[in-house]
Amino acid sequence: MEKKPVKITETILRDAHQSLVATRMRIGQMLPQLEALDKVGYNALEAWGGATFDTCLRFLGEDPWERLDTLKQHLKNTPIQMLLRGQNLLGYNHYSDDVVRAFVRKASQHGVKIFRIFDALNDIQNLRTAIDEALHCKEKPQVQGCLVYTISPYHTNETFVELAKTLEEMGVHSVCIKDMSGLLKPYVAEDLVKKLKAAVKVPIELHTHYTSGFGSMTYLKAIEAGVDIIDTALAPFSCDTSQPCTETMIETLKDTPYDTGLNRQELTPISKHFLKVKQDIIKEFNLKGYFDVNPNVLDFQIPGGMLSNLTNQLKEQGMEDKYQDLLDEMPRVRADLGYPPLVTPSSQIVGTMATFNVMMGERYKMVPKEFKDLARGKFGHTPKPISTSFLHSIGIKDSEIITDCAIEDAKEKTMEQFRDELAEKGYKNAPEEDILSYALFPQVAEEFFREKMRFLSANRAKELLGELMKIDDPQALKEHLHQALKS
Ligand code: CO
Repeated sequence: MEKKPVKITETILRDAHQSLVATRMRIGQMLPQLEALDKVGYNALEAWGGATFDTCLRFLGEDPWERLDTLKQHLKNTPIQMLLRGQNLLGYNHYSDDVVRAFVRKASQHGVKIFRIFDALNDIQNLRTAIDEALHCKEKPQVQGCLVYTISPYHTNETFVELAKTLEEMGVHSVCIKDMSGLLKPYVAEDLVKKLKAAVKVPIELHTHYTSGFGSMTYLKAIEAGVDIIDTALAPFSCDTSQPCTETMIETLKDTPYDTGLNRQELTPISKHFLKVKQDIIKEFNLKGYFDVNPNVLDFQIPGGMLSNLTNQLKEQGMEDKYQDLLDEMPRVRADLGYPPLVTPSSQIVGTMATFNVMMGERYKMVPKEFKDLARGKFGHTPKPISTSFLHSIGIKDSEIITDCAIEDAKEKTMEQFRDELAEKGYKNAPEEDILSYALFPQVAEEFFREKMRFLSANRAKELLGELMKIDDPQALKEHLHQALKS
């Protein structure tokens, strides 16, 4: 049989720790193994985007742009891949085209070599600007478009193939089947990959999570059907709600036509390091760190991390006994909303609405703004058009229904407006990177900048003290101090 080596994208630096330890891995915990990871021969290292940007600023006191610079310095051979939510970027709103383009440009300049771009609703309109900008970056990064996989009466393998064809026409270099909740069953994967391979020329990558327990079976059937690239995580950060295990997949394919050519034993010391990292993170942030296989995800379709948040909300309200009601309510809310795939931000929006319905004991008594926005079309078209009677019933007027969300996006703030806003808050001449951090997470970034300034001024004060100690002449001392205060 003809040789057809499968390529492997390693997720240990992004999705794996996002899925298992709430995205809490620090750059310092990655550093000791970056050179080793770089030598493995991976197709790519997914290392940036997704929730990492937010957690860097919010919880880890790290500048996400500096993290990217450090990764770039140490990863000379393997492309750095990022996950980007189209017009949503890495935030929870839609942004203006101006902000989307600036973000993609900066990410490319700082070292992103593969942009994996998706939209929660699979609405092409929301992918257009990000894909176009990435295709035109000076550094010539690879651009990958995603099919966000879900199960509903409105999604079939044929609809996904149509979407892949459109992505190929838009100029993407590869297409990814993004199965964020592990819903893709092995034989369905086989059929989908066969159909995709027949319909498009660009390579097909498969990204799944082990949540329902299908992971490596799904990969194997997809590989036999011709998938080009699979996403895996090193042993300590694999399985559960994360990706199938890198070492297992390498060994499974060894001495077959699909042999990856990678050496499992070379990975042992790297995995050993990350096992310790995982234990440290679980301890530091008091996390659970493991999740049981849950085939019922097929019904409620909420990603693992999200589910534990909802359970906590119920617990805080003393309503733990309502857990099953919540799981039952989720698919109903999703159906009312036109069957969106559940991934950030739609997963949070549907999950919160279902929780409210259960806690209030009455459906749609209280409807959050984000739910109304998604329902009225602010984030794009839902797979099934939502009935006007439902929209009216949750208080949306005909005049509020949006048919073209690009018109709404154009009303969002521009880079210049964000720059002015920061200046008004006392941060003048902010570099573009900081303006982007602020555009995505205004309060969190502001707080982060304040901390950073405080740190900088504390360092400067220490330095100044050292300088002053060396000056004997009182007049010179006065002059130096005067100059220092002016700057
Ligand atoms: Co994922």
